[in-house]
Amino acid sequence: MVCLGNICRSPLAEGIMQHLSDEHGLGWKIDSAGTGNWHVGEGPDRRSVRAARNHGIDISGQVCRLIRISDFEHFDHIFVMDKYNLRDVLEMAPGEDAAAKVKLLLGNREVPDPYYEDSQFEPVFELIEMGCKDIIKEFTHQE
Ligand code: 4NP
Repeated sequence: MVCLGNICRSPLAEGIMQHLSDEHGLGWKIDSAGTGNWHVGEGPDRRSVRAARNHGIDISGQVCRLIRISDFEHFDHIFVMDKYNLRDVLEMAPGEDAAAKVKLLLGNREVPDPYYEDSQFEPVFELIEMGCKDIIKEFTHQE
């Protein structure tokens, strides 16, 4: 799961997808990273921690990091939140197979950046949760 800062959206996406995967017994390993380095080493934004906690998910132990080339090897899929992340991550992709792993989390829509708008954290949680549930359905062929 990749966004710009790795403190608002992608930590939520990591927490939500890991929670859903665990709930469904899928055994998926989810991680998150950012394309920008301002917050490396920090925990998630308090507003994301609170939004997740309101839904029974604890993301407080996550630590912000940058996306790295080895992520294209270690992960089968790389989901990005918006078109800027998509452009930046595709630019880093070391080949066609790597580039093919990169997709918008919501398919054809973006998850907007809530950083400057406190009221957007709950709607962003819900958008990400919807995207994660759709991916679980797609990958497990559930209806
Ligand atoms: P995120 O939000 O990409 O969802 O983590 C942001 C967090 C921090 C900044 C930008 C976006 N920033 O510019 O520091």
